[in-house]
Amino acid sequence: MCGIVGYIGFRQAPEICLAGLGRLEYRGYDSAGLAVITDNGQLDVRKVVGKIAALRELLQSQPLAGTIGIGHTRWATHGKPSVENSHPHLSCDGRIAVVHNGIIENYQELRSRLEAEGHTFTSQTDTEVMAHLIEKYYDGDLRAAVCRAVRDLQGAFAFGVICADSPGQMVAVRRFSPLVVGLGDGENYIASDMGAIRKETDRVYVIADDEVALLTPDKVELTDLDLNPVDREVFVIPWPADAAEKGGHKHFMHKEIHEQPDAIHACLAGRLSDPDKPIVLEDLNMSEREIKSLRKVVFTACGTAYHAGLVGRFLTEKLARIPAEADLAAELRARDPVVLDNTLCIVISQSGETADTLVALRDMKEKGAKVISVLNVVDSSIARESDGVVYIQAGPEIGVASTKAYTLQILTLELIALHFAEVRGVASPQQLHELKSALLKMPELAQTLLDREEDVKAIAAKYYQKPNALYLGRGINLPSALEGALKMKEISYIHAEGYSAGEMKHGPIALIEPSCFTVAIAVHGEVYDKMIGNIMEIKARSGPLIAVADDGDEQIPVTGVDPQADPDDVAGQPNDMLWVPPVPELVSPVTVAIPLQLLAYHAADMRGEHIDQPRNLAKTVTVE
Ligand code: M6R
Repeated sequence: MCGIVGYIGFRQAPEICLAGLGRLEYRGYDSAGLAVITDNGQLDVRKVVGKIAALRELLQSQPLAGTIGIGHTRWATHGKPSVENSHPHLSCDGRIAVVHNGIIENYQELRSRLEAEGHTFTSQTDTEVMAHLIEKYYDGDLRAAVCRAVRDLQGAFAFGVICADSPGQMVAVRRFSPLVVGLGDGENYIASDMGAIRKETDRVYVIADDEVALLTPDKVELTDLDLNPVDREVFVIPWPADAAEKGGHKHFMHKEIHEQPDAIHACLAGRLSDPDKPIVLEDLNMSEREIKSLRKVVFTACGTAYHAGLVGRFLTEKLARIPAEADLAAELRARDPVVLDNTLCIVISQSGETADTLVALRDMKEKGAKVISVLNVVDSSIARESDGVVYIQAGPEIGVASTKAYTLQILTLELIALHFAEVRGVASPQQLHELKSALLKMPELAQTLLDREEDVKAIAAKYYQKPNALYLGRGINLPSALEGALKMKEISYIHAEGYSAGEMKHGPIALIEPSCFTVAIAVHGEVYDKMIGNIMEIKARSGPLIAVADDGDEQIPVTGVDPQADPDDVAGQPNDMLWVPPVPELVSPVTVAIPLQLLAYHAADMRGEHIDQPRNLAKTVTVE
């Protein structure tokens, strides 16, 4: 899981590649490197351990110059982060340079073969075999050599390749890992995603598996591995050039939290316009007959997207009355699920490239399920293998911690469940009207919640130094608790656990003491009274408590408060409140998400953490 970028044209490649790599850092950031072909036909390479900023610094003391270059930001899989293991990797003669995203599964076997043939390796990476394979096959035609080399590989990859002996060319190829080619005037680009080169161009080719792109400054040729031409429409990137920049916010995560009112609006547009009209979901690609004959819906995803899937499961059973399951993608295949006729698998992913999710999708398809995906990034690997795709329309999400994508995933799953309920005729017109009306108000409610940011910040200031947190929820807000805890732990490194409040007495209550704070989701609905009980239990054990509750609730702030308690005992303090506008319980995960995102953000910011690039994490996990 890494990011690659490349430039061929008339401008200086290092600057353009560095800027692109900066936008790809979410894919990995333990080391980085660049290779250019110099004006006198040599390959010149710079590599560092660390982030793109470190590479930029190195280039100040040891500049690179050339109008053809490839760059890489790495997230180590084979071989520790080191200069030797950083990309670009070179052939023995130093004339061919390769950058790679993915994993070459048969690299050991290839390496032994190449070593036996006399090739010398300088790194522990799987990638280096590709540089040597191309060297082995190169006879003056770089593209032909790349195609031959790719035939020897097993695994997932996207490569960018340059060769000092073919100085007017760059070759790129992919299988299972994302790759786009950007189109300019007298200059062209390659990148792992569109965001990396959006500043330079809005016209791209999205490369498919086993397709090869030959780039010169003036043209791009697409072929298959047998060099048969491939016809591909130019995709015009629908978002503006500055959409991938921070736009005045301190972090991308903050910007993305604040984009939610507009993003919610965009997600609803064309799908829900009137509480008395049916939901329109043409991209779902399911006939009424198919929807009526559904026997089971299986949700699968990883991380935050899985939490959205848990909300989807709840809605599908509650609203559409279809038996539903939700599995972590990495676990689904392991349990070898029984797939009945008319089973629908709903795959959820922001990136559309998560390897575990892709594997789960393939397994469910093989077992006979129809697969619909709920995605953000357009034309991803998951999109291409799905029977239907519903895009959440969030725009690029750069912060490693998913925020707006989560909110829109839930919103989209609300729309799908309502659509199923409508088509199957299992929900009353009143219920449909009430829920649709609430969803239509979501952009405005999201803005109201953002306007309360200073209140959330004040609560974060009170708690950010505590080492432990417990997030509790029930029913449709159990996933909100799991997601709130994930957000807190991944960016602030506060140890946070999400639990069903019903499980409290079966273990987690043992953790309650003054240094462990609890976030209890206690909005009105079927489980409200039970949440009151949990809050009392926590306060009785001197546990500090933050509650997420509906505006105007007078009970929760004082629930469990003991006026006789010692003034230093939190049992005597009123609860801290994250207020949310009241909405029907079935849509409340959308509103509850926002203050929990802000709480995690401000706690992490106060702790001075790297919010957009938390340690050990990458935005897109393209390896299992
Ligand atoms: O791109 P995806 O939605 O498939 O990614 C799934 C998870 O890797 C992702 O949600 C991860 O858990 C985030 N770091 C959460 O903030």
